[in-house]
Amino acid sequence: MIDTKLKSRLQAAQSLLWINPEQVCVSMADVPVHPNQVKEAEQNWRDLAPLLQRCFPELSDHSGAIASELIPVDALAREMGYAHGRHFVKGDHALPVAGSVKARGGIYEVFLYGLSLARDLDLISATDTPEALLNPNVKAAFKGYTVAVGSTGNLGLSVGIAARALGFRAVVHMSSDAKDWKVERLQRHGVEVVQHDADYGSAVAAARHQADADPTIYFVDDERSELLFFGYSAAAAELHDQLMKRNIMVDAEHPLFLYLPCGIGGAPGGVAYGIKQVFGDHAHCFFVEPAQSPCALVQLAAGLEKQVTVYDIGLTNKTEADGMAVAEVSWFIAQVMHPLLSGVYTVEDDDLFRWLALASRHADLQLEPSAAASLGGPSMIIDSTEGQQYLTDCDLHAHMPNATHVMWATGGSFVPEAEFQGFLSRGEALL
Ligand SMILES: Cc1ncc(COP(=O)(O)O)c(C=O)c1O
Repeated sequence: MIDTKLKSRLQAAQSLLWINPEQVCVSMADVPVHPNQVKEAEQNWRDLAPLLQRCFPELSDHSGAIASELIPVDALAREMGYAHGRHFVKGDHALPVAGSVKARGGIYEVFLYGLSLARDLDLISATDTPEALLNPNVKAAFKGYTVAVGSTGNLGLSVGIAARALGFRAVVHMSSDAKDWKVERLQRHGVEVVQHDADYGSAVAAARHQADADPTIYFVDDERSELLFFGYSAAAAELHDQLMKRNIMVDAEHPLFLYLPCGIGGAPGGVAYGIKQVFGDHAHCFFVEPAQSPCALVQLAAGLEKQVTVYDIGLTNKTEADGMAVAEVSWFIAQVMHPLLSGVYTVEDDDLFRWLALASRHADLQLEPSAAASLGGPSMIIDSTEGQQYLTDCDLHAHMPNATHVMWATGGSFVPEAEFQGFLSRGEALL
């Protein structure tokens, strides 16, 4: 049960910060995944790199790595009134191949599926390297198999593009929130798009139902997939290396704050899980959700006895942040994050556009509204009563001048110019 005071604040659909009282109170033994799996994922990414480089020419400059820059944003932070600590944007908005954080999950799962299918069909041997998937006989065989996914857009782009690169048929089931340009871009890549006149959860359910009935369809299950989750989790090692290269310490006196936009929870959950393995208690992970779609917040605040949706408390799940228009968080993610997540803050749509415009003006970033949500994190911690209480409880006040804030920009570089100019004018008008 959500307490009445929190419930009425959520129902007012105004920005708020919720601190997770269960953080570190619950046994990690109850978490359904294991830290070793993050290390395995890092190794899998390294093994896939030569194949990825051959499939996607844009990866040549990065030796086949799906990786993003850690971008210092001092001017933007000053404009947003962030006086203390260091501020970075993690630039997944410009991730190669798919232009969003979803590249880390979707490409990982599709390529690992391709490898396991090719081995099961005896098209390649257990000792062949992943590059064997480029053999013409493998591609010919993959034509008879379909990779399907339900998506608000960006996961569809990542899974669809990856599946087509290996020769699979690809079908993306999209919710009514999906933007037209995402549909068009998928179709240009030869991906079949099924548009549902329903929300994200319904699109996923329809896709799952179709796949269940047909053994030639592999369904990438955004609500349940461990492969997606661990694909995302490997980003933690990348961030660790980037901080080390800049001589930025993370320890009890140098806390790390992460702000992660959340829809179904897979991407932020995977990244946060990886981060907690690398930095432990010195990393403070916060999800951010639209004020009308705080699905992780309502689930974690209600406890894990039964699943709850944002509709249950009278919210609409209508937001311009299409990637985060999700009414019910993944049950798998709720279990994993219950003991690990520091909290969740919510944002109103107008702020998304304001921050998107500021990020363009002062950091030259092209973000989509979902990604801009991460930019409000430092203010939620420093300027709210709940944030101040969190700093007191964690004994962090004295260390805030040494803190590092990483705002995870989850998508945007693929947004067509005309669409982006529309976002910008809306933001500029609000500033
Ligand atoms: C730009 C962007 N940010 C954040 C998210 C949230 O990721 P998840 O749904 O895995 O929580 C999405 C999901 O599609 C997205 O497209």
